[in-house]
Amino acid sequence: MIAGTTKVFCVIGDPIEHSLSPAMHNAAFRHLGLDAVFVAFRVDRKNLEHAVKGIRSLGIAGVNVTMPHKTAIISYLDELNKEAEFVGAVNTVLNAEGKLVGFNTDGIGAVRALKESGLTLKGKKIVLIGAGGAGKAIAFQLAQEACELRILNRDGEKAKQLAAKLERKFNTKILGNSLSQATLKECIKDADVLINATSVGMQPNHNQTPVDRELLKPGLTVMDIVYNPVETRLIREAKSAGANVVYGTEMLIFQGAASFEIWWKTPAPVDVMRKALSDKLCRGGA
Ligand code: ATR
Repeated sequence: MIAGTTKVFCVIGDPIEHSLSPAMHNAAFRHLGLDAVFVAFRVDRKNLEHAVKGIRSLGIAGVNVTMPHKTAIISYLDELNKEAEFVGAVNTVLNAEGKLVGFNTDGIGAVRALKESGLTLKGKKIVLIGAGGAGKAIAFQLAQEACELRILNRDGEKAKQLAAKLERKFNTKILGNSLSQATLKECIKDADVLINATSVGMQPNHNQTPVDRELLKPGLTVMDIVYNPVETRLIREAKSAGANVVYGTEMLIFQGAASFEIWWKTPAPVDVMRKALSDKLCRGGA
């Protein structure tokens, strides 16, 4: 029941009606009997500063941040954690007794989704497609996992710069190159894991895939960060080629779980969040 003591959490973005965060977090709150509620606010660009002032003045306990505010919100926060700082984007804010701290849980969510699928990352050869916000966040985590990382991006310079920055930071060898069927073929040849961190294949372009079907093979684990549609063409073709797959919804669940854990400092009820997400998707969310 909502009462005078109820803690308020929210997601801000524009558009926001299709956000899956309220369903996941409210289910988690209910399951654990927490006196809290999670709501969605549509905030347009010009009102972002006011919205952050509102978070402070209303004492909103925690916030998820989505498009188009993930980078712009940084200038209104008091502190960033190391992931948010590196990526230059925030998807989670903790209101720590008036101090607003920004986090980025996208990379943490992706890596946890891979590990929870049963994969050990140490020593694995990983091909990451995409060096945008999500790609950077995932690369930042993978660079700390003692795996062999190869980053490919349509704009090759971005991949090279990201690889060089991570190499300096973590004193490890990372390849960065432009994305083409030739570079993909070369990189996938002996790879264990392939991750699509681009928007290719997302609705309404669900007929697109970043990787030709003939490059997919048994023994490869393919993760797609796209979750709309849940079964992307890449995931479908990976399955039919005998590869293992990790759905974008898993990354979504684990980035949400990581936000939950930042706010509550207690393990998130992941299965409850997964069920809430799948119920919502069945009813036509996202
Ligand atoms: P996000 O925060 O979701 O990662 P983003 O920062 O805009 O969004 O990054 C989008 C990613 O998808 C980038 O890696 C982008 O490649 P570029 O850096 O070359 O723009 C990639 N991307 C988008 N459309 C693409 C396409 N049609 N083919 C290949 N890559 C594409």
